Amino acid sequence: MQSESLTKTSIGIRINCHSIITEIECIEARIVMFLDLVRRRKSVRDFLDIPVEREKIGMCLEAARLAPSACNSQPWKFIVVDDRQLKNRLCNAAFGGIYSINSFCKTAPVIVVVVSEKSKFLARIGGMFRGTKYYLIDIGIAIEHFVLQAEDLDLGTCWIGWFNEGAIKPILNIPAHEKADILIALGYYDKEKLRSEHDREPMDKIASFNSY
Ligand SMILES: Cc1cc2nc3c(=O)[nH]c(=O)nc-3n(C[C@H](O)[C@H](O)[C@H](O)COP(=O)(O)O)c2cc1C
Repeated sequence: MQSESLTKTSIGIRINCHSIITEIECIEARIVMFLDLVRRRKSVRDFLDIPVEREKIGMCLEAARLAPSACNSQPWKFIVVDDRQLKNRLCNAAFGGIYSINSFCKTAPVIVVVVSEKSKFLARIGGMFRGTKYYLIDIGIAIEHFVLQAEDLDLGTCWIGWFNEGAIKPILNIPAHEKADILIALGYYDKEKLRSEHDREPMDKIASFNSY
């Protein structure tokens, strides 16, 4: 490591990368930081009534903007709704009737609507041949970039796939032919209230080396 750099690790200590510890140790610290961030992120369904700074939202959007996508199509548009009145209107429309299970989103100060845009021609043709909807993979990566950046800024998120799409489109002037696939509820949250463990399959069930 050429220049001195200070790194804040997951456990809050500061590591001086200049000569005192080796570069490998620095890399290990960064890996721990990333895994720790991934471990910290959990779906938040109860938000604090505190506005979210536009600067922080901008950082989340930047993380999404830099996401990879098939043929670099970048088939996404993020509509940030942080105007309180508009957000309430949006939530009332999105989470009525059969969608009311997600009414908790009304506590979120920000809702981000993710619209899937058209992929580049090559990605669409490739997707047809492969039977793979690359654009859904693409927006998934971008959204996860967004939510991980949010978590790193102490902001909670919840992916929302169950909502009344038809009811929200006119509110945000989303053209009828566009598809709003996912909402992201975003806001500050009480970390003490969040459960500590992820409910996940064991490693040997989801991964293997060299054979299925
Ligand atoms: C595509 C997608 C759609 C989701 N839709 C909803 C939803 O409509 N409502 C909800 O409460 N959570 C929703 N979630 C959150 C999942 O329930 C949650 O990620 C999962 O249970 C794992 O929990 P964790 O996020 O706390 O690790 C969705 C997640 C994804 C990735």
